[in-house]
Amino acid sequence: MTEAEIVQRLRAAGSVFAEREAAVLIAEAHDADQLEAMVARRAAGDPLEQVVGWAEFDGIRFAVEPGVFVPRHRTEFLVQQAVRLGHPDSVVLDLCCGVGALGAAVRARLGAGVELHAADLDPAAVRCARANLRAATVYEGDLFDPLPDELRGRVDLLLANAPYVPTSDIAMLPPEAREHEHPIALDGGADGLELHRRVIAGAPAWLAPGGRLLIEVSEEQADAAASLMADAGLWAHTELDDEDDDVTVVVIGRRPV
Ligand SMILES: C[S@@+](CC[C@H](N)C(=O)[O-])C[C@H]1O[C@@H](n2cnc3c(N)ncnc32)[C@H](O)[C@@H]1O
Repeated sequence: MTEAEIVQRLRAAGSVFAEREAAVLIAEAHDADQLEAMVARRAAGDPLEQVVGWAEFDGIRFAVEPGVFVPRHRTEFLVQQAVRLGHPDSVVLDLCCGVGALGAAVRARLGAGVELHAADLDPAAVRCARANLRAATVYEGDLFDPLPDELRGRVDLLLANAPYVPTSDIAMLPPEAREHEHPIALDGGADGLELHRRVIAGAPAWLAPGGRLLIEVSEEQADAAASLMADAGLWAHTELDDEDDDVTVVVIGRRPV
């Protein structure tokens, strides 16, 4: 199978980046049979990252198992905000960590002095995060439940890219997400903020004085998320990245000193 034939198959299957994807598949396949199998999976709609087993985020490669959420480049904006507010020995907690991309990217930028903790409910995500994160502790369980008590009141940066798609909008997601990522990674409940309500309510007990909670939400959810933070006693403000067609919104809540 030539590169041109692969491009043609991927394009016919609806890939917008067929040339780039063909180059990645060719580079990753060990032989012609594996290449054929990978092209067939991609043409059938499997996300490229799950076919090759890795995703790139903020210049770092992360192992991704089938079904686990593929980190989105838009979330690099949350990483930028955290880095701006952090320091070289920050205590960072990546809640709902998926493959661990956010915490790893923040530590790569702030330095090895960062103390990194991560947690997720999905055992497959936890397996990926444990493989991806060296010198970090990864916990498995519901939100704050699995965290050790010694972390209470010590977290400088609490990163939480929790699911925020309202249940009724799940059907409108691209099939790559809908059919290949676990529903718990996508479904944010009736208004998309079900997990955030619990994250925000729990955050003050884990944040250090002056520590920040950073969450990514949609533009429509930003005001509601900021008022939830204010109700929890956090000083909230919103940062917007509108450089691309899609606006990315990060709401930041600071625990008063
Ligand atoms: C939108 S994905 C984001 C993953 C990662 N933060 C990222 O940006 O790549 C949401 C993650 O939240 C996890 N999750 C969902 N409900 C959870 C809960 N109750 N407790 C902990 N993690 C949860 C999912 O398993 C999934 O990995």
